[in-house]
Amino acid sequence: MTETVTRPADDWWRSAVVYQVYPRSFADADGDGTGDLNGIRARLPYLAELGVDAIWISPWYPSPLLDGGYDVSDYRDINPEFGTLADADALITEAHALGLRILIDLVPNHCSWEHPWFKAALEAGKGSPERDLFWFRDGVDGQPPTNWPAAFGGGAWQQIDDGQWYLHMFDISQPDWNWDHPKVIEEFDSILRFWFDRGIDGFRIDVADSMAKDATLPDVPLRDGQPTREKYVGNPFYDQPGVHTIHQRWRAIADEYADSPQGPRVFVAEAWLSPPERLAQYVRPNELHSAFNFDALRASWDAKDLRAVIDRSTGSLWAVGAPATWVLSNHDTIRHRTRYGRALEDALAGAGVVPTDLALGLRRARAAALLELALPGGAYIYQGDELGLPEVEDLPEEVLDDPTWERSGHTSRGRDGCRVPIPWEGAEPPYGFGPGEGQPWLPQPADWAPLTAAAQSGDSDSHLNLYKAALKIRREHPDLGEGRLSWDDESPAEVLAFTRGNFRCLTNLGSSPVALPVGTEVLLTSSPLVDDQLPTDTTVWLNTAE
Ligand code: GLC
Repeated sequence: MTETVTRPADDWWRSAVVYQVYPRSFADADGDGTGDLNGIRARLPYLAELGVDAIWISPWYPSPLLDGGYDVSDYRDINPEFGTLADADALITEAHALGLRILIDLVPNHCSWEHPWFKAALEAGKGSPERDLFWFRDGVDGQPPTNWPAAFGGGAWQQIDDGQWYLHMFDISQPDWNWDHPKVIEEFDSILRFWFDRGIDGFRIDVADSMAKDATLPDVPLRDGQPTREKYVGNPFYDQPGVHTIHQRWRAIADEYADSPQGPRVFVAEAWLSPPERLAQYVRPNELHSAFNFDALRASWDAKDLRAVIDRSTGSLWAVGAPATWVLSNHDTIRHRTRYGRALEDALAGAGVVPTDLALGLRRARAAALLELALPGGAYIYQGDELGLPEVEDLPEEVLDDPTWERSGHTSRGRDGCRVPIPWEGAEPPYGFGPGEGQPWLPQPADWAPLTAAAQSGDSDSHLNLYKAALKIRREHPDLGEGRLSWDDESPAEVLAFTRGNFRCLTNLGSSPVALPVGTEVLLTSSPLVDDQLPTDTTVWLNTAE
């Protein structure tokens, strides 16, 4: 029997498929080598045709781009390299007309050192009210105030000319806001309203677990002689109780818009927190609406591990009434086609250092896409995932742009390999990323011609068309999207198999083919069946007759 799932329009976010646009690398309308808002506008029909429900645009604000835009110098404008506020307004209107919602990125933990309030704080000097908006402190015997490590390498404090230090949990160009200060709190209230009033549907909250700090500034423990960034309970800069007060405040602001014609405005939290029960605290009914579930992204290609991750994350999220979300890749991680082409223990290894089988990776990426889109809740697609792009592992050192490269003393190449501009059409770079022959800000591989959107759109077996087919079925099938699943335990242990009403999904992670359940109709497979059996590294979607 099918349990009919009703999907009120207001609940769109509980089952939305959200496509992440990294604006620098998506599409370049003006031909300066950097993506822009008019480039995104021109590709909105592509996204509508792909069949996603919403777009999340990584930071588009004015920024020196020292961390790809996660270093914001003005929260109420658009980076001139990307366009203008008028372009943003047009983008929002045009997306809505195509039925696409727009989420943008809020970066509340830190700003750019070019933000006027930080510049004023540097000028105003020790003990000034301007400095109170950030974390300025005196050092101890010439040493920084604490031993806290920054995310991109090195310490988290930078000394300035007058001897004081300021806190930056990421790059030195990203000073942390002092969220104990009412002016900071009020400023972000106003930023939220500014964009909600312009018509955006929600925000992705950058490092949503980090804004509140333990103001007593205790050192963190050492691991292998180095200060740890582990998120242990009580860590002074992660998952402090104060973050929840901030999120509750923001939820109240979003709820002011709940009755607007376009429906509720929503948040998704970026918080790399384990176990899932900790993450669930962020999506309690009076806090953020949803949170990226990164455990699935980090899980190995193994049936037992994946099932455990799925059960644990759905269990903890459903316990607080939140939907699950599923993420395979984003702009901070190695693209999953490449991850899945590696031995389990090497999956997250740095660029270019371990053997990778990209054909295997592609096969698994196809199977993973169908698995992801069959699971209950929302799903995220990072730009280029739908084309099966691999991580670019051989970028020349001189083009590396991620601050991780410098801050790690050239020991970690960083995240540029998943940020290479999208190939749209044509036989050679820039593959239609921009007009003409001008080259993009990061070079594209010479062998990407078969991966362009245009090349794939005419090939019914392409990765792109697999995504399109899956998203179409997902939209139309009453048992997909929000809801629950039940595991089919009669399947072999290496097969992930579950039922949702009349819908069944099987992913074969074992080494031998398996028979399909009797009395089922095949809706879609990630790779062809062999002798009517489900081969290794393949997902099938099935319909069960009533
Ligand atoms: C988040 C972003 C990442 C950025 C960092 C600092 O993790 O996803 O790209 O570098 O925050 O803002």
